[in-house]
Amino acid sequence: MKTMANAQATGHVMRCVHCGKVQETADRMFHCTQCSELLEVVYPERADAPREFGLRLREIWEERRGSPLPENSSGVWRFRELLPRVERQHIVTMSEGNTPLIPLKKAARALRLPHLLVKHQGMNPTGSFKDTGISVAISIAKAEGFSWVCCASTGNTSASVAAYAACAEIKSFVLLPAGQVSAGKLAQALEYGAHVLQLRTDFDGCLKVLHDVVRKFPAYLLNSLNPYRLEGQKTVAFEVMEQMNWTLPDHVIVPGGNLANGSALGKGFMELRELGLITSLPKISIIQAAGANPLVRTMRENGGTQLVRVNAETRATAIRIGNPASWRKAVSVLNNTGGMCEEVSENEIAQAKAELGSEGIGCEPASAATLAGLKKLAGAGFVRPSETVILVLTGHMLKDVDYMKQAPGQSLIGPMEADGDSVIRTLEQIYAQH
Ligand code: F0G
Repeated sequence: MKTMANAQATGHVMRCVHCGKVQETADRMFHCTQCSELLEVVYPERADAPREFGLRLREIWEERRGSPLPENSSGVWRFRELLPRVERQHIVTMSEGNTPLIPLKKAARALRLPHLLVKHQGMNPTGSFKDTGISVAISIAKAEGFSWVCCASTGNTSASVAAYAACAEIKSFVLLPAGQVSAGKLAQALEYGAHVLQLRTDFDGCLKVLHDVVRKFPAYLLNSLNPYRLEGQKTVAFEVMEQMNWTLPDHVIVPGGNLANGSALGKGFMELRELGLITSLPKISIIQAAGANPLVRTMRENGGTQLVRVNAETRATAIRIGNPASWRKAVSVLNNTGGMCEEVSENEIAQAKAELGSEGIGCEPASAATLAGLKKLAGAGFVRPSETVILVLTGHMLKDVDYMKQAPGQSLIGPMEADGDSVIRTLEQIYAQH
């Protein structure tokens, strides 16, 4: 079976990120028919759009805010002029996006970076940034009449796929690395009714198996090989610009796993520039765990020309990936925006997570890698004190509470006697220490 993308009806075609071949259809693995590399969605009609088109968009998007229509209250579909055309009845949305941009206080003081903010994508319906991309890709699956969707996942994609499939009344199955997915994420996939298959391998192994399965089994692939995922995820750039009142940040920093999110973010900003809505690009930097650092090694060892695969190991299980699918896209984003790729240790991630938590901002370990990475980038002088920095927090703190239980610097006291005097004595001791 082929997935159709009739250029006129849908307003887009797909282009290979490596050889540049343009195609209107893709096989179920979304590979280029010429060189087997990944595809990206492009919009040929936009090349002829008048300059006013871009400028008018700001007003259209603004007008839609506050509208009760599902396609307007979604923080993804509100920007639908820059997405593949999907008929209204096929749009699957749960008001994804619309996430807060929050200034940091303590970290800003400690790092002497007064303009430091977090974009909290963990505030999406299933608690991670995946929802923005899944909303678009599953809408395409619905429009194309699929009755099954699937993914391999370190946890968050499976939670999102399960929820959006339930919302679309489509069946789903997910392949997970057995014993390597946090309990919270597993609970979500089960609660939303996905068929959960735990495989004795890692994420990279699950994705490999899924390739084989999808060739033979009629299910629509929702991993980020699917270029429609990135179309949804790129809208975070539009939302950030609106929230910044169209003042461009100097740096945006994301964690990197399979490397689709950094790629999508870059695509979003580049499209805004093409349309004249912004005149330059923020530097987009990607942070990996030191034990799962294929992009860092690829950039360091061969300047981004050949992927260096690694055997991934990190307690930030969301980004425990050694063979990232979207590495070429991520390399172009680093090159096009002038961003850096950096690695951080397990301790640095834990420390950064605790620091974010101490200002009331919870996130999962993979997300905290951004703050850990920023410290290094600022220390090296790549980020300067006058600059505006946005850290993209990709997942909610409650996704991975087991990690937290082992974190340093927390004050869980007891069990103790249930009487007022015992509590007061303990409080007196605590007060004396402060
Ligand atoms: N942060 C979180 C919380 C994630 O769940 C992921 C990826 C990433 C960062 C990395 O994003 O892969 O686009 O570079 N999670 C995937 C999953 C792999 O299956 O949930 P990426």
